[in-house]
Order: sequence, then structure tokens, then C-alpha cells
Amino acid sequence: MSITGNILEADLVVLRDRVNARLAELVAASSSTSLADCPVKLRESMAYSLLAGGKRLRPLLVLLAAEACGGEIEHALPAACAIEMVHTYSLIHDDLPAMDDDDFRRGRPTNHKVFGEAMAILAGDALLTLAFEVIALQTQPSNVAAACCADLAGASGWCGMVAGQVADLEAEQAGDSSAEILSAEVRLGQLEAIHRRKTGRLLTSAVTLGARVAQASPDLINRLEHFGKCVGLAFQIADDLLDVTGDAAKLGKGVRKDATLGKMTYPGLMGTDASRQKAAALIDEACRMLEPLGSRGDKLVALAKFVTQRDH
Ligand code: IPE
Ligand code: IPE
Ligand code: MG
Ligand code: MG
Ligand code: MG
Repeated sequence: MSITGNILEADLVVLRDRVNARLAELVAASSSTSLADCPVKLRESMAYSLLAGGKRLRPLLVLLAAEACGGEIEHALPAACAIEMVHTYSLIHDDLPAMDDDDFRRGRPTNHKVFGEAMAILAGDALLTLAFEVIALQTQPSNVAAACCADLAGASGWCGMVAGQVADLEAEQAGDSSAEILSAEVRLGQLEAIHRRKTGRLLTSAVTLGARVAQASPDLINRLEHFGKCVGLAFQIADDLLDVTGDAAKLGKGVRKDATLGKMTYPGLMGTDASRQKAAALIDEACRMLEPLGSRGDKLVALAKFVTQRDH
């Protein structure tokens, strides 16, 4: 990850390398989880997408939130890897022909292009369930592991990311007819609700997982949750903007797809300038939430700023 001009960049590279190394171990054939008995093609399909790179933003948020709350990076690594597994599963399914029908992801052909749709669906299923196995078996103490499993399940499931993906597809199908019937204000409200769930919930969970592993106080967890909600919405606004203005080679995925698919997006509803301003205001709000942490919040603040400044 390049966070130009930021002295924290080296720290983030080290953490990302630790996440990548642990993820590789977790999907190795000799893994301490059950992957030794995993069907060969399924394991290959899981590893193909999980180890394809990616910014690792969610695991970094887990680790930095844990550190900001006085916890150990090592104790937070299982939760960091678990959320990356859930995120990768969501990408594999998001790219399927029945959803966004994309051919490139993380600089390579999408999972279903290489392994077929059935295996891509199953690799997603397996990554999702492996995530909870990793937290349950590797996070201590057991009440913290249970709280982390509940947090991640809520963020990713029927009222979180999956609900957001449903709303995203429904809005796409409603298309122009909703533009004719509903006011701009109502449509913006709908869009915010989509983005907060399809992307924001998982990013918020990254931050609260880190705080939970560090056994932070309820007050600090709430503060970090507010930070995560702002960063999460800003992140998806930036993703919408990059679809319009970004470069496919840098992003490692297709661009100019959202308008073709009739997606409801921030630049689509309010234009690029207002979208940028909205994202910047959300990052300011996020950073204000961390002021009481003093310098302990510096790395999280740097990562939050990267969310809207990124080109990939
Ligand atoms: C892409 O997420 C999908 C969205 C939720 C917008 P990222 O931009 O974090 O993708 P990777 O993990 O870096 O590939
Ligand atoms: C994806 O949103 C959200 C997920 C839950 C994966 P997008 O559909 O905009 O993500 P990209 O642009 O394909 O990465
Ligand atoms: Mg999508
Ligand atoms: Mg997509
Ligand atoms: Mg997108």
C-alpha cells in the first residue's frame, strides 16, 4: 500500500506482510485448520482469490484498532485474517455473472473465470465459514472470541453486507423508474442505506473487532464504531468515484461499470465534486472521534485519510 509522504507507511507494510503470511498459512494444505482434508480444487480456488493481493485495509484496521486500544498485534491477527476471508468471499460472489458480472479482480481474472461458477460460489462459502472457525479456535479468551464471532456475523450477514448487496441489486433493477418517482433526497437516503450495509458494516466491524480483542471499554468501542461507520461510508463513496475516474490497471479491476449496470452511486446521484466533499467530511468526522486517544490514534487517522486519497 502506498500512502505517499506518510511516515507510517513502513509500519503498514510490515503489518500487511504479517497478515499476508498468516493468510497463506491458514489456507496452506498443511494448515492447522481443517484444510489438509480440503478438496484440492476448492483449496486452490480459495487461495487464488485470498492470496491475490488487495490492500488488506480491513485487517490493517483490526490490527491498528487493537494497538490503539492497548492490545497486542499477535492476538488480533486471527480476527484480522478472518475479516479478510469474509471480504474476499464477498468479492468472489459480487463478481459472479448473477451479480456484477466482472472479469477482473485484484489484477487477475475473477475466480469464476478460472474455476467456474460453481467452484467460485463454493470457495466463497468455504472462506466465509473458515473465517468463523479461525476466530473461534484462535482468539482468546473464549468470551472475546464469541463477541468477535457475533460482531462479524452481524456485519457480514442478513442485516449487514448481504442485506446491502440485496439492496444494491434491487436498486439496480428499479433503475430509471425510481428516478422518476422518488425525490433526490429519498434516493440519497436509499443510497446511503445501501452503502452503509454493503461496505460500511464490514469496515466498521474491522475496527470493533480490534477493540474487542484488546478488551477495550464499551465507551472506547462505541467511539471506534462511530469512526468505522464514517470510514466505511467514505470508502464506498471513494470506490464509486474510482469507478468513474480511476484506472483499471492501478485498481486491478474493471472501471466504468456502475453506470452501465444502472447502479445507484454517489457520483451518479450528486456528481463527482459533491461526492468528494461528502467523503472528505466523513473522514474529518471519523478523525474527530479519535481525538481523545491522542497519538495512539495516529495510525488509524493516517489509514482513514488514505481511504479518500487512494487511487487503487
Ligand atoms: C472492494 O474492496 C470492494 C468494496 C467493498 C468496494 P477493496 O477496495 O478493499 O478491495 P481489495 O481488498 O483492495 O481488493
Ligand atoms: C462491493 O461493492 C461490495 C461488496 C460487498 C463486495 P462494489 O460492487 O462496488 O465493489 P467493486 O467495485 O466490484 O469492487
Ligand atoms: Mg457490487
Ligand atoms: Mg462489484
Ligand atoms: Mg464498485
